Order: sequence, then structure tokens, then C-alpha cells
Amino acid sequence: MSPLAKALSDRSARVGVVGLGYVGLPLATAFADSGFDVLGFEVDATKVEAINSGTSYIPDIPTEEVARLVGLERLSATTNFSRLAECDAISVCVPTPLRKTRDPDLTYIVKATEEIARHLRPGQLIVLESTTYPGTTVEIVAPTLSSAGLEIGREVHLAFSPERIDPGNEQFTVTNTPKIIGGMTSECNVVAQLLYESIVNTVITVSSPTAAEMVKLLENTFRAVNIGLVNEVAIIADKLGLDVWEIIEAAASKPFGFMPFYPGPGLGGHCIPIDPHYLSWKLRTLNYRTRFIELADDINNSMPDYVVSKVSAALNDSAKPIRGSKLLILGVAYKRDITDWRESPAVPIIRALQERGALVSYQDDYVEGLPLGSHGAGDRLCSVELDYEAMGEYDGVVIVTDHRYFDVTAILANAQCVVDTRNLTGQQGREDPKVVKL
Ligand SMILES: NC(=O)c1ccc[n+]([C@@H]2O[C@H](COP(=O)([O-])OP(=O)(O)OC[C@H]3O[C@@H](n4cnc5c(N)ncnc54)[C@H](O)[C@@H]3O)[C@@H](O)[C@H]2O)c1
Repeated sequence: MSPLAKALSDRSARVGVVGLGYVGLPLATAFADSGFDVLGFEVDATKVEAINSGTSYIPDIPTEEVARLVGLERLSATTNFSRLAECDAISVCVPTPLRKTRDPDLTYIVKATEEIARHLRPGQLIVLESTTYPGTTVEIVAPTLSSAGLEIGREVHLAFSPERIDPGNEQFTVTNTPKIIGGMTSECNVVAQLLYESIVNTVITVSSPTAAEMVKLLENTFRAVNIGLVNEVAIIADKLGLDVWEIIEAAASKPFGFMPFYPGPGLGGHCIPIDPHYLSWKLRTLNYRTRFIELADDINNSMPDYVVSKVSAALNDSAKPIRGSKLLILGVAYKRDITDWRESPAVPIIRALQERGALVSYQDDYVEGLPLGSHGAGDRLCSVELDYEAMGEYDGVVIVTDHRYFDVTAILANAQCVVDTRNLTGQQGREDPKVVKL
């Protein structure tokens, strides 16, 4: 057994996590909880201070858990990247956004890899976890690490292992979500497997980092395409005078060959709206057009406008125009019970309603403010207090995110009209003429 394999097996290895966001912090706490000494690397000094003072800024990770691990001296964070040399295994969890042109922005991966290469020493394992296009580990990360003069697979190890965390999901966590690993060599697979077996019940190895990168993109493209399909089915059902939610509920009773997906106001978050574009971009370089991805993207991107058309129709029923109407948006996070509003469809919906002259407020206990104030750049729109009786003062209420704390009966008792994009109102909404559903 190599010294690295031994140190991973007996938990004497020091684990580094680069990027302590929605993915990196849960990973770092999981490694620390399993007995490793974990050092987090962050460019954002406020996050480093928060961790070192035992405070969490990610809702899925309780502050008490961070405080406990910091107290046990198993978890700490730093902005000093020269300390990468102290780590035996390093997982990279930096952002992979899109550029304005919707091409992949690998800047964060490149910077993090360059830092690692600068401090690389024999016996280290590097694992990229950020979602990216097939080929990134082999074409971008490996050459940068090799420039340090160490041989991958012999002196240092490299693998890609996609992060599959689902923020807010209480049923599937780091531990019980199987982990995919694609190492550069079989020895890379062996050591990466040893690392992740400490925190994950099931580890599955594939033949290469590129295969592991493709696994992640298949998963998220599958979701994006199926959501696109069901969003179109929502439009079709509406044209046929049918309730799409009833149709899906009944279809889902089939125990095989059907898997329910649900329509909504549009895609949101850091993954589903973005990841398929990484695949499209890569395939464009190979002169192939990913038609399913493009079509789903078209439909999903049109949903905020579709919601606005529903709001317009609902107000029209009371002979009101959008201009001058007071509207309350319920929920702006991109999905239920989380704080993340990145790429949330609430943003284009609010913008479109404001552009048409509506006076828009929103209520979301998870999101304090959005950069959508009516006084130009920098002006914030802040969440209003949750006051069900005051909902009657609005011309309409639009449910964009179905947070569990919303009281459907109280909403229906007070609101003048409700546009429900998530079926939060369920059967009650189906029977209530003032509810317009997607
Ligand atoms: N959020 C999710 O649900 C989710 C799920 C699966 C996969 N992913 C993928 O995981 C990756 C990370 O996503 P996230 O949601 O955690 O992003 P995030 O923005 O929450 O966190 C990334 C962190 O990395 C830090 N960072 C940026 N550059 C750095 C550098 N050079 N060195 C050290 N730290 C740096 C940022 O300050 C930030 O704190 C992305 O590729 C994303 O697609 C995210």
C-alpha cells in the first residue's frame, strides 16, 4: 500500500477543499466529520473568517456542526494557498459559470489548478468536482499539473468526481448519494476511491475522467430536457383546457416507464440552466449541434414570459391592466426551502412585470433582497413581511416558489387572484375560480 493510500485508509491524511461554497463546505464538513483533518481554501476572506469562528453560511450545514468540527481542530480555512502543500488530497469545488456569450467560463478552474500546480508535491491526490465539459480534466487540468514536473498516475494522482449534492434535499445527502469517480489511471481510481469511501456509502468508478464528466452532464441534461418537455406539456394542457398537474399525477401511477417531472416558472440555480450549455459548447467544437438541449433551453427560457402572460390574463379577468397593478410574488429562491436565487426565474418575471408598469413586491423568508429596485443599478428590492391579511391589498399574488412555510388556506382566503406556477394550491386551487395555474 502506498503512503497516500495508507494515510487515506487510517484518516491520518490531511484533506484540502478548494472553494467553500454550496458544494465545498458540505464536502469539507463531511470529511472532517469522518475523522480527517480538513483545510479549506477560499478566495473570499469573509467565508474563511466565518468558518474559523465556527459559523456556517450554507443552510444545509448547521452552525453547530461547523463550530463542533472547528472546536475539535478538524476543520479550518485559509486564504493562503501555499498551504496546499500541507494537503495529501485536494478536492476542487470552484464555480463553473457561463460567459455572457453562454460559453463555459473555466477561469475559476484554471486559477485553482494553477495554484495547486505551484505547490504540488509528490504523493498528492487532486480531484476536480466542479461540473464541466467532457475533456476538462484531461485537456486543461492534467497539463497544468504536469507542468510542475511530476508524473500523473505515479508521483501525483488526478481524478474527476462530479458533485451530485442537491441543496435542501433532506433524504439524499453526501453520504447516501453514490459518488462517481473517473481517474487518469487505475491507481488514481484506487486512491480517489479510498478518499471518498470515507464519506460516501457507494463509490462507482468509470474508465476515465472524461466519462465521469459526461455522467454528470447526462444527469443534468436529462433533467433539463425532461423539464422542457413537461413545460411544453403544461402549455399543451392549457390549450386543451386540461389541468397539467392532474395529468402528471395520474400518469405517475404507472409503476414503470414513466417518471414524473413537473412544470414551473423556468429553470433556476447553478446547475440545470447552465450545465447542458457546457455540453453544447463542447459538441460545437466537434461540429455537432445538440438539438435536444437547444429545444429544451428554448422552452424553459420562455416560461417566465408564459407566467407573465398568465398574470396578464388573471388581471384581465378583473378588468385590470398590468400597468399600475400591485403584485406580490411569493418565493424568489430558485426552488423550495433554500436561499439560493441564482438564475431564479423570479428575476426575469419580476423584471418583465416591472417593465410593464406593475408595482412589484415579494415575500421570501429565505431571500432578504434582490438587485431589482426601481431606482436603477444597486437599488435592492427587499422581501416584505409575511402578512396574509395584507395580501388582499394586492391586485394579484404570484406563487413562484412553493416554500413549505406558505399557508395555502390563508393565501386563498385573502388574495384577490392567484397565479400558481408550482401547484402549491393543489386541489384547493383547482376548485377556486380565482386561482390560475400553469
Ligand atoms: N450548488 C449546487 O447545487 C451544485 C450541485 C452539484 C454541482 N455543483 C457544481 O459545483 C461547483 C461549485 O458550485 P457551488 O454551488 O458550490 O458554487 P459557490 O459559488 O457556492 O462556491 C464556490 C466557491 O469557490 C470560491 N472560489 C472561487 N474561486 C476560487 C479559487 N480560485 N480558490 C478558492 N476558492 C475559490 C468562491 O468564493 C465560492 O465561495 C460548480 O461547478 C457547480 O456547477 C453545484
